[in-house]
Amino acid sequence: MLKEIDFLDGYSQLIDALRGRGAFLVTGVEKPNAMTIGWASLGLIWSKPILSVLVRPSRHSFLLMNSHEEFVVSVPPSEMNKQLAVCGSRSGRDIDKFSECSFTAGAGIKVKVPHIEECPLHFECKIVHKNNVEADRLSAAIASQYYPGGDFHTIYYGEIIGAFKKED
Ligand SMILES: Cc1cc2nc3c(=O)[nH]c(=O)nc-3n(C[C@H](O)[C@H](O)[C@H](O)COP(=O)(O)O)c2cc1C
Repeated sequence: MLKEIDFLDGYSQLIDALRGRGAFLVTGVEKPNAMTIGWASLGLIWSKPILSVLVRPSRHSFLLMNSHEEFVVSVPPSEMNKQLAVCGSRSGRDIDKFSECSFTAGAGIKVKVPHIEECPLHFECKIVHKNNVEADRLSAAIASQYYPGGDFHTIYYGEIIGAFKKED
């Protein structure tokens, strides 16, 4: 059973996951896909709670982010390292990661995109803005460390429509 929480009550669990082995970005509706993410930002912009995620154009998730208006971030429990490795190395273009990882697609509560039922915390988001990381506006050190081959991320700003936690 999921209960709705204030988005800030999920803050440390999300950041701990990102600093550890990552969280899942779920995109798509009919054929949902899960991709491991290591970077995200949670805060207030335009007086709204916003969760921003960064997706490179080479990802299958990029296509899904651009063809749907919503995404979900599901935060894993501690014992999901194998699934985080699969979702962070295999592409939804080649395999069905929900089936490969034995994930249950839980019906979205306030959005159409499902969440990963086996995870204890979910942020349901509606994309309200996106922009591209641009080489000529980026610190040279970050550019050479993270973008030697280009493939600059697009940053998606998701208004958090609902944050949900599994009840203990
Ligand atoms: C720990 C970890 C964090 C990652 N973080 C991101 C990220 O924030 N953005 C991104 O575009 N790719 C990230 N990746 C790479 C994608 O998860 C990976 O390329 C994945 O296979 C893409 O799946 P897709 O093609 O189904 O979208 C990360 C991978 C790992 C292992």
